[in-house]
Amino acid sequence: MANRFYITTPLYYVNAPPHLGHAYTEIVSDCLARYHRLNGEEVWFLTGSDEHGQKIARAAESARLTPQAFVDQMIRPFQTLWRTLHVRYDDFIRTTESRHIRSVQAALQRLFDAHQLVKSIYTGWYCVPCETYWTSTDFSAEQLAQSVKTCANCQRPVEALEEEGYDLRLGGEAQQWLLHHLDTHPEFIVPETRRNEVRSLLERPLPEVLCVTRPVRRVGWGIPAPFDAHHVVYVWVDALLNYISAVGFPDDQQRLAHWWPADVHVIGKDILRHHAIYWPMLLHALGLELPHTILAHGWWTVGDVKMSKSRGNVVDPQAVVAEYGVDALRYFVLREVPFGHDGVFTEEALVKRFNADLANDVGNLHFRTLTMVEKYTSGRIPSAHQCERSPADEVLARLRQALPQTLERAMARYDFVAALEAILVAMNRANKFIEEQAPWTVAAASHTARLHGILWQLLETLRVTTLTLWPFIPHAAERMWQALGWAEPLWQATDQRTLAQRIETAMFHDGQRIQKGQPLFPRRELT
Ligand code: MSP
Repeated sequence: MANRFYITTPLYYVNAPPHLGHAYTEIVSDCLARYHRLNGEEVWFLTGSDEHGQKIARAAESARLTPQAFVDQMIRPFQTLWRTLHVRYDDFIRTTESRHIRSVQAALQRLFDAHQLVKSIYTGWYCVPCETYWTSTDFSAEQLAQSVKTCANCQRPVEALEEEGYDLRLGGEAQQWLLHHLDTHPEFIVPETRRNEVRSLLERPLPEVLCVTRPVRRVGWGIPAPFDAHHVVYVWVDALLNYISAVGFPDDQQRLAHWWPADVHVIGKDILRHHAIYWPMLLHALGLELPHTILAHGWWTVGDVKMSKSRGNVVDPQAVVAEYGVDALRYFVLREVPFGHDGVFTEEALVKRFNADLANDVGNLHFRTLTMVEKYTSGRIPSAHQCERSPADEVLARLRQALPQTLERAMARYDFVAALEAILVAMNRANKFIEEQAPWTVAAASHTARLHGILWQLLETLRVTTLTLWPFIPHAAERMWQALGWAEPLWQATDQRTLAQRIETAMFHDGQRIQKGQPLFPRRELT
């Protein structure tokens, strides 16, 4: 079905509260989900928490809680943050929920019954913070000679392991199949730098197998393997399966067929290998289709070091929102860093962006226009047929007209910067239009029809830009929409019009009453 859109985020480890990096993934996903909703599509936006494994078990132990009590408590700051950030997900899946456990066990049983799993002894290394196995092929000769080896992903020491487990064979054939898929589906991994990275991984021989279980005696906190009481499901396999367990695998075939394959898995580049290699291999073994796109974003760093709780260099999104508001944070992360690149968060950069774009362009256009409507037309939107047009109006009309298509192209490339730039160019131009047209002079000359014409152009530009801003800064956009005089929210699930149709048909009513309210984005000084 062309008009359904299934988008997922990673399931976050709940060993520590969320930071800006997690918030970024969630904001990007919410922005995409909202954009598709605004386009009249049926959207399913899934997020959740990764609650099993050694990393969580150890964190629970240090907190002197049982793992279950620990995770029950630790999901709260995540769910609270998503509310604060106006992230509107449709489902929040926890890997400790019975619906997920049943589904994971069914998947493993299916693999086992189809003789896809082989019991063997695993000899290698394990990184607990990344919950990732490494084999001798992953280390340089120099590293292999050293007694302490470090994780290729996070550079922390890995633990040597020798234990029994069940393996899913990957082998050369599956590897060739995936390479072929990558080459024939350029949209499978975005951006291209990440596709190339996966391509080069696939050009070298992969480990022959993916170990899908771990012994209970070492890792007690996991989903029991349905075919062997001495094993639990490897936490990454457990977590990846959420993308299908949440939409009906295996019991609700109709639901699964409706939503699967997912349109977009949004992830950070740190978990590319798991999503772009292991997940497709698992799906292939289960006889399911691959997701359409794996969308990998860059890292928020401090200097050039990845922001992470264990390094103690995190930015707390709640604190940023408390100081600058939710729109400032959402706008900043989406506008500041081209998608796919790493970004450095500084308060200076946020304040600069806030003043330059939100205060100067968005807030100014909104407040100045509404102030003039209060003053010159007693807060009523002038009706189009009472307005005198001028050739000077053309520039704004053209910008408005181009906006839906520009936005569509930018969003199809996940280019949030280009999308926001196009909206802001229109708003900035409208601010200049105020200066050029000097409505106060037209009012002084009692040239009412032209005064109405100027106001109408400004209001139209606000109407269109407010609609298009909604996926990015929904809180502000809803306020702007209400200020323009609509009683209903900007977006309602029942509306199936595309954005372009909305723009054409959601017109002002004659005499619609605006509600000026307070300035949206007063300028900020760095505190
Ligand atoms: N639990 C696994 C994912 C399983 S998905 C089936 C996991 N969790 S995580 O909490 O460690 O990280 C999840 C995601 O958080 C990352 O992929 C990334 O999207 C985001 N980020 C965590 N730190 C980040 C930064 N410093 N910068 C940007 N995003 C980062 O991996």
